[in-house]
Amino acid sequence: MKISILLMGSLPFLGRVAAWGALGHQAVGYTAMEFLAPKALKFVQSTLSASDNHSLGPAATWADTVRSEAAFAFTAPFHFIDAEDDPEGGSCSVDETRDCGAAGCILTAIANYTIRVADTSLSATQRQEALKFIDHFLGDIGQPLHVEAFEVGGNDISAICGGSKTNLHAAWDTGMITTNLAANFGGSSQAWAASLVQEIQTGKFQSDAADWISCSSTTEPLSRRSALSQIINPGRSMKDEIMETIASRATGKITPLACPLVWAKESNAFDCTDVFDFKTGQDLCKGTYFTNALPIIELQIAKQGFRLAAWLNVIFDGATNLP
Ligand SMILES: *[C@@H]1O[C@H](CO)[C@@H](O)[C@H](O)[C@H]1NC(C)=O
Ligand SMILES: *[C@@H]1O[C@H](CO)[C@@H](O)[C@H](O)[C@H]1NC(C)=O
Ligand SMILES: [Zn+2]
Repeated sequence: MKISILLMGSLPFLGRVAAWGALGHQAVGYTAMEFLAPKALKFVQSTLSASDNHSLGPAATWADTVRSEAAFAFTAPFHFIDAEDDPEGGSCSVDETRDCGAAGCILTAIANYTIRVADTSLSATQRQEALKFIDHFLGDIGQPLHVEAFEVGGNDISAICGGSKTNLHAAWDTGMITTNLAANFGGSSQAWAASLVQEIQTGKFQSDAADWISCSSTTEPLSRRSALSQIINPGRSMKDEIMETIASRATGKITPLACPLVWAKESNAFDCTDVFDFKTGQDLCKGTYFTNALPIIELQIAKQGFRLAAWLNVIFDGATNLP
């Protein structure tokens, strides 16, 4: 974060440049659209504008386009959480108290905009913004380098993608996704999302999807999972949490929710396994690195799209409405 603070005044883009690039965010949004319950779908379609095709797909990138505007500069820290762990030493962790700065982080942002999207006393514009922030931040939290402080979330690590110079963060946000979509989906995030939706409904993700919205960590071995979820989330569901958060509006206190913390830990765990596991000069967008990383990216995008739908379904329909 040192760098972004130094340059924040004049050159905001040189700090934390990106987020899942546009294609990744759109895929999260398009995936979610297929799992929305009736009231959530109605709210989404009537709230988002025609320029976004009334869809969470195109609307998912708005938060990145405004963060360079002075009026939205305060939202820059909301796109990530700087986990001060040690991925190179094999120690990954996310600690809300340690890692979520005074200016806020993705955990407080999700809580805040969850309260605001449900708040009928706010203006239509404010609720639309809240929806577009949720649409975006539920994507970002699935990107392992948005949950990592090391080398400014990989922004300061040089990398190569498809023969071109880039940095590790950008290779995850954009490079590998663009490579995959060009090769397999005609460059279309919508076509990619359609394939991820099919994997959730009837394919390789079908058996795990229920776990994704249970707020227990799917990176933990099954034998440990229930014990762990008892500690993180004893007997509470995504619904309990969201309802409680929305009700807490009266106190004006923004308390991060347990589910996004579980998701953050899940993403962060990849920083200790695959993300930093390459040699200088190795091309990340081909060969073994790409072959290992792409399934992680697809999993994280599919998961976050499904979770985004579940989240909005709880807020507007009172339950996840998903199997
Ligand atoms: C909206 O949909 C139309 C027709 O499918 C498409 O041409 C256009 O690119 C879409 N706009 C956005 C912002 O995705
Ligand atoms: C919640 O969102 C509003 C609107 O963007 C913003 O003004 C406020 O600072 C946010 N609060 C927190 C704690 O992030
Ligand atoms: Zn972002």
